Amino acid sequence: MNNTIAGFSKLSKEEKIHWIANHYFSTPTEAIDLLKKYWNSDATLQQLHDEFIENTITNFYIPLGVAPNFLINGKYSTIPMAIEESSVVAAAAKSAKFWATRGGFKTTIINTEKIGQVHFLYTGDKDKLTVFFNQTKTTFFSETDALTKNMRQRGGGILNIELKDKTELIPNYYQLHATFETKDSMGANFINSCLEQFAKTLKEQAQTFDAFTSDEKEIEVIMSILSNYVPNCLVRAEVSCPIEDLAEKHIPDPEVFAQRFVQAVRIAEVEPYRAVTHNKGIMNGIDAVVLATGNDFRAVEAGIHAFASKNGQYSSLSHAEIENGQFKFWLEIPLALGTVGGLTSLHPLVKLCLEMLEKPSAQELMQLVAVAGLAQNFAALRSLTTTGIQEGHMKMHLNNILNQFMVNEEERLAIKKHFKNHTISHSAVVSYIEELRK
Ligand code: MEV
Repeated sequence: MNNTIAGFSKLSKEEKIHWIANHYFSTPTEAIDLLKKYWNSDATLQQLHDEFIENTITNFYIPLGVAPNFLINGKYSTIPMAIEESSVVAAAAKSAKFWATRGGFKTTIINTEKIGQVHFLYTGDKDKLTVFFNQTKTTFFSETDALTKNMRQRGGGILNIELKDKTELIPNYYQLHATFETKDSMGANFINSCLEQFAKTLKEQAQTFDAFTSDEKEIEVIMSILSNYVPNCLVRAEVSCPIEDLAEKHIPDPEVFAQRFVQAVRIAEVEPYRAVTHNKGIMNGIDAVVLATGNDFRAVEAGIHAFASKNGQYSSLSHAEIENGQFKFWLEIPLALGTVGGLTSLHPLVKLCLEMLEKPSAQELMQLVAVAGLAQNFAALRSLTTTGIQEGHMKMHLNNILNQFMVNEEERLAIKKHFKNHTISHSAVVSYIEELRK
């Protein structure tokens, strides 16, 4: 069968589904029924979702959970999390509860600067380019005046534009490296529009710069785009308490716990294989809140992992220490987030999540997201250095196994009762189900 098609995007949704079903499924009607089962019965709502992207055929569900009791800088929040992994929300809620009685989370915004670049080729005398750039700098600002007006009124705008010589990396390669403040918007469209105007100004002004030879006037812009690496858009989240206050049911000896915890973080600081998994746990919390609040989790992921490698080796995003009897655990991460624009006012559930968070500013959301990351990391390290991760993880995963085997209510109760006192593993649960069904 020919599995290619021209003009697919022009087909109606119904036609697209039929084409997919007939080309890839032995029972097309079943595939169609399943896809349609996930359509929203509210046609307007469905159309809104259809139009987010091209070629929408249905919706793809991910649970939206909430982790309550997060005490952050003296104020309580309930954090919405969109995630499929069984144990993440439970772990966040557990950490929130633990730290709420130990002073809560403290957060600080370190900076909020974003970056964009115009990458271009210039063949000629570098000093002349520098003179040209210095002379044209005000024009870059004036020619983006209309684009930046609203942002300036909100207290943001273009912070600075620099010329960067990158010819040691690639012959004739230079950059306009610009920094921006985008207040409550993530700012991608704003930054990219400004950059495209800079590129235009750069090319036009070069044509009229008398000191350039005719070759030098032909600046070739390769591309203009924001950077998702935002090491100066930084937030810090921290927890601390006297070591003895760490004591609780699973932490009978807080001194030993604190030592082992700090050691676990130290391992992630120096050992990349561990650092990746350690940071993955942090991203469990971060991505879930970023997604629930309609932000771009790919941008956040890319930027954070680059930051984790800033010293030349991939390392832990979080750090821990014991000093004068105090246990301290913190992380610093770059986060470019928005609470206006983009999906924030379009996606009804994103709007709801932001309302649940009491309509945070972008800076407030950065703090909430950083806390979710730290809480997640605390929960993971606490399990790893005490009971091991599988105990809690499998408890949460048990439902998935039961659903996979379509157990009835009676079986479910019996299985849950049995595994209260037995170690849960996929094979143990399967054997037990088989036993029950004999
Ligand atoms: C699982 O999603 C995340 C963990 O592996 C994180 C970690 O190892 O720190 C538990």
